[in-house]
Amino acid sequence: MAACVEVSEPLPAFQWPSPQFVGGAWPDLGRPLRLGVMASGQGSNFEALVAACRRGPAGAEVVELVVNNPLCEARRRAERLGIPCRLLDHRHFRERQLLDQQVAASFQANEVDLVVMAGWMRIVTPVLIGAYPNRLVNIHPSLLPSFRGLDAVGQALAAGVTISGCTAHLVEELVDAGPILAQAAVPVLANDSHASLAARIQSQEHRILPYGVALAAQRLWGERLGPADQG
Ligand code: GAR
Repeated sequence: MAACVEVSEPLPAFQWPSPQFVGGAWPDLGRPLRLGVMASGQGSNFEALVAACRRGPAGAEVVELVVNNPLCEARRRAERLGIPCRLLDHRHFRERQLLDQQVAASFQANEVDLVVMAGWMRIVTPVLIGAYPNRLVNIHPSLLPSFRGLDAVGQALAAGVTISGCTAHLVEELVDAGPILAQAAVPVLANDSHASLAARIQSQEHRILPYGVALAAQRLWGERLGPADQG
């Protein structure tokens, strides 16, 4: 297991073992970067991102969670963590675009800079991608481009791979595709069940998601306050 190291700026695009993100690597906007998160299930990645933001200097904060499932654990976590949570139940929307319109409107009203899909189990449309171009990050439990789509862990087990992992990437129109921000490789053990492999992958997701989000933010805003701009 890797030693935990403080990430110093600028973040490299790829590192293995993936570093422990301990804060302090957010771009300096002169105010905390405002993150919006989307989740459908347990919300463990949402909580890992909140924890990463709360470590170290206040360079970023999660200002809103959007969930599509009224019973999801992510919603309870938001309450415990004191983060405003909006329920947009997908069953109340005729079309995906209409749901995405509301998601984007909610984040825009909250002045969100960058959006993170942390276990959002709905296909997103150009409506949301266009509202947050290069500002929409997804976490997926495979080494993309392998095993896109549903049940990536099951797909990896069925394929008999000996190494799997997770990927944080920018979102494009194709499902689970787009420029890769960070990846972590995870061994598949001979006696792995779906649950044991999923848990090993998730613990790496919790490390690389904040790292990938900070990297995306640095690419967008990292040079704004560089020496040339400071006059
Ligand atoms: C995570 O493993 C994430 O990679 C996956 O859903 C899980 C959510 O867990 N996302 C996808 O499969 C998206 N294609 P969490 O709710 O505990 O963060």
